[in-house]
Amino acid sequence: MTNFRNLTVLSHPLIQHKLAVLRDKGTSKKTFRALVEEISMLMGYEVTKDLKLEPVEIDTPLERMTAHKMSGKKLTIVPVLRAGLGMADGILRLVPSARVGHIGLYRDHVTLEPVDYYFKIPAEAEDRDFIVLDPMLATGGSAAAAVTFLRRRGAGRIRFVCLVAAPEGVQRMLEEHPDVHVYTAALDRQLNEHGYILPGLGDAGDRLFGTR
Ligand code: PRP
Ligand code: URA
Repeated sequence: MTNFRNLTVLSHPLIQHKLAVLRDKGTSKKTFRALVEEISMLMGYEVTKDLKLEPVEIDTPLERMTAHKMSGKKLTIVPVLRAGLGMADGILRLVPSARVGHIGLYRDHVTLEPVDYYFKIPAEAEDRDFIVLDPMLATGGSAAAAVTFLRRRGAGRIRFVCLVAAPEGVQRMLEEHPDVHVYTAALDRQLNEHGYILPGLGDAGDRLFGTR
């Protein structure tokens, strides 16, 4: 397997088992949606493991103690529309108070370049941790564009989480945004001539939303 310094493959058995079912073309939409959410939640546990804590004084029923809570502004997740929406609820189950931004992008079928149509994120971006969500990192055009838009608004601390990555996309992120760490459940073999990931799972947005 190719080694990328910007990439972590989360190989927990539960993630890998659920990903196998997700990839299967016979999996129903209902199950596909549920699995995207479940895998995202399991990945979220790992992706958030180095978020900063601060000491707080609390009173247990027995005595006063110093405990630890998340510090700073609220974590912000940013699903890339459409397919990233399927991942958002999984992370929100772990961090219910997270803020949610949205970036609307679709990939032109001919050029494979991302076309943007929506952008909304919480204020004070420079003080927040961002987690960008998109199930598929293929050419990397959409992920790189999403990060560029966040950077223009001042975002500094950004992670990118996908379910399936192609080497081409990871390499593009390394070249354009070397400080953005990429987390994936699988690093697949390659892209086909239409920019689809092989073996992949097909078109994530279509499988989530029942379009074609
Ligand atoms: C898919 C996917 C990513 C993008 C990945 O979205 O959800 O956003 O393609 O491809 P890339 O790495 O080559 O940019 P799509 O363009 O199909 O839009 P959709 O989510 O609205 O269906
Ligand atoms: N977008 C998808 O949904 N799937 C791919 O394999 C590539 C881009």
